[in-house]
Amino acid sequence: MNTTLTIDINKTSKSKIASTNFDDLKFGQTISDHMFVAEFENGNWGNFRIEPYAPLQLNPANATLHYGQSVFEGMKAYKNADGEVLIFRADANQQRLNESARRMCIPEVPEEIFMEGLKTLIQVDADWIPNKPGYSLYIRPFVFATDDYLGIRPSEKYKFIIFTCPVGNYYAKPVSVKVETKYTRAAEGGTGSAKAAGNYAGSLYPALLAQKEGFDQLLWTDGKSHQHIEESGTMNVMFMINDTLITAPTTTGTILKGITRDSVLTLAKEMGVKVEERFLRVTELEDALVSGSLKEAFGTGTAATIAHIAKIHVNGNDYELPEKDQSAFSNQVLDKLDQIKYGKTEDNHGWIIKL
Ligand code: COI
Repeated sequence: MNTTLTIDINKTSKSKIASTNFDDLKFGQTISDHMFVAEFENGNWGNFRIEPYAPLQLNPANATLHYGQSVFEGMKAYKNADGEVLIFRADANQQRLNESARRMCIPEVPEEIFMEGLKTLIQVDADWIPNKPGYSLYIRPFVFATDDYLGIRPSEKYKFIIFTCPVGNYYAKPVSVKVETKYTRAAEGGTGSAKAAGNYAGSLYPALLAQKEGFDQLLWTDGKSHQHIEESGTMNVMFMINDTLITAPTTTGTILKGITRDSVLTLAKEMGVKVEERFLRVTELEDALVSGSLKEAFGTGTAATIAHIAKIHVNGNDYELPEKDQSAFSNQVLDKLDQIKYGKTEDNHGWIIKL
């Protein structure tokens, strides 16, 4: 991309990298040295800069703090065997960020600003990308309102920031999930398909209740009747019933259009697996658990990648699923995805940006 964007680069004089234990990375706890920042004011994005990762100064009347006008993304960068930097599907994240932004009355971030900001930041902090299997640099772009104004209206000023964290697995082991039929994550006409901060805030309390009962996550059902499965807390969710891969469609506006979801569906079709994008009824899930026709269930997400589901709680009953090493499809697709992300195979889909 030819760019006319001028990005001021101010590097830290106190890098944290030497004191970081790359063998003990808890998701989101270790933050790399720098961040990219852009500001929106008077209808334009400007003031593009890389600066040391540091606290922000916010006025107590900041609109985001009160009304939650904030959207975010998650993506990852990897290193191949030659130490080259590969970023996975950043163009899809840029487009989804802007879909979320439109829903929340936030100005879109033009492709050039997103991509140039991203590439410059990743180049500056390339040493933070772990190069061992299963590890990557998690990238968190987000946009939030910065007006100091308590009236309700879309903010006139915003910040777009990208920062990064070296990470290992989000879930250390296969997860146990509970089908949630009381609380609702998203309703038709709502904001469920946007990666909006408030969606995550609203899901915390029901998830906490489930965690107190010993479950890692919820399987959300639809807000209207609670009769079909939508997604899980941090990921989309897929079920292999006999030889058919089933996952909820993203046409109702209640489900996040997962980029890992899309990648898995693309690879599944190429592998000759039968794919159905349709709602799975809770009763159908229960029948499949009882009869043993549910062969595999797993979550898909940037942070979670492919998260095997070990146990599902539905209507008062716990059902154990086949062991992770018997989950042929999800292990195979995870391997295929990793081959692409770590540059071990040809990128036939145009999913990789190499720096
Ligand atoms: C991601 O997978 O990137 C997410 O945003 C999930 C997040 C809740 C950790």
